Amino acid sequence: MPETYETLLLEKRERVAIITINRPDKRNALNIKTREEGAALLEELRNDSSVGVVVFTGAGDKAFIAGADIAEFAGRTSITQRDVMMGRSLFTAIDSFPKPVIAMVNGYCLGGGCELALACDIRIASETASFGQPEINLGIIPGGGGTQRLTRLVGEGKAMEMILTGEIIDARTAFSIGLVNHVVPAEQLHAKTMEIANRIADKSPIALQLAKEAVKIASRSSLDEGLRREVDLFALCFSTEDKDEGVSAFLEKRKPAFKGK
Ligand code: COA
Repeated sequence: MPETYETLLLEKRERVAIITINRPDKRNALNIKTREEGAALLEELRNDSSVGVVVFTGAGDKAFIAGADIAEFAGRTSITQRDVMMGRSLFTAIDSFPKPVIAMVNGYCLGGGCELALACDIRIASETASFGQPEINLGIIPGGGGTQRLTRLVGEGKAMEMILTGEIIDARTAFSIGLVNHVVPAEQLHAKTMEIANRIADKSPIALQLAKEAVKIASRSSLDEGLRREVDLFALCFSTEDKDEGVSAFLEKRKPAFKGK
């Protein structure tokens, strides 16, 4: 794997890896290169046991990600299903990533940017952030999972309005409809995100992975199926050394030292 990326920056702070989409002149629009590098970097971080949580953000103070790179759409008169799947592969990689992924939304979060944030597990926004699925203004619809993930997160009525009007909403409105977990002043965004990321990163990596899997099943299956899967995943926790460590640490009134085993 390359140490440096053309379109991304990587910073590791304790057990948190921060990936910054670094195309500020283009409002961090996702071009093919960014998607490929993002997916490759996630693959690298998947196997890096020093990383417990991944944070995505955008370079500069204007945009998180202003969507797919529209310049790459010009002149295309057809697109195959395979192209669409390739286009969303970064979002799929985030969704199925075995560690928690947080979107630190520092500005425009539009189109594919909103879809990337939706694929993350937690979204934290600055007061200056804004959200939207403006694809309809280009004569297209969201193709990176937006019609599905947004609807599951905020409900059909709100999702339908955002997708049909293409309207951009502010961070407070995004918070009020459940699109983001927290809204903070811009100067506190980094600290708030790191506070939450660090709190998560100290937990058992196995328990985190199983918890993420279990919660994601909830919106993708029936209640009965979800409850059955929870039994399996809960039982799996009991065969781990981390469970023994967590329980012992509680009884011995000390901080657990999880090993991810
Ligand atoms: N794809 C490609 N380039 C983009 C882009 C995108 N999604 N969003 C912004 N850019 C580029 C602009 O073309 C411009 O490039 P240039 O300097 O070479 O002309 C540069 O980023 C700055 O954009 P600009 O519009 O001048 O910045 P702004 O701060 O005034 O407005 C936005 C920011 C995000 C509101 C506006 O750029 C926008 O509406 N972008 C498109 C959003 C969208 O429709 N996304 C969904 C795509 S499917």
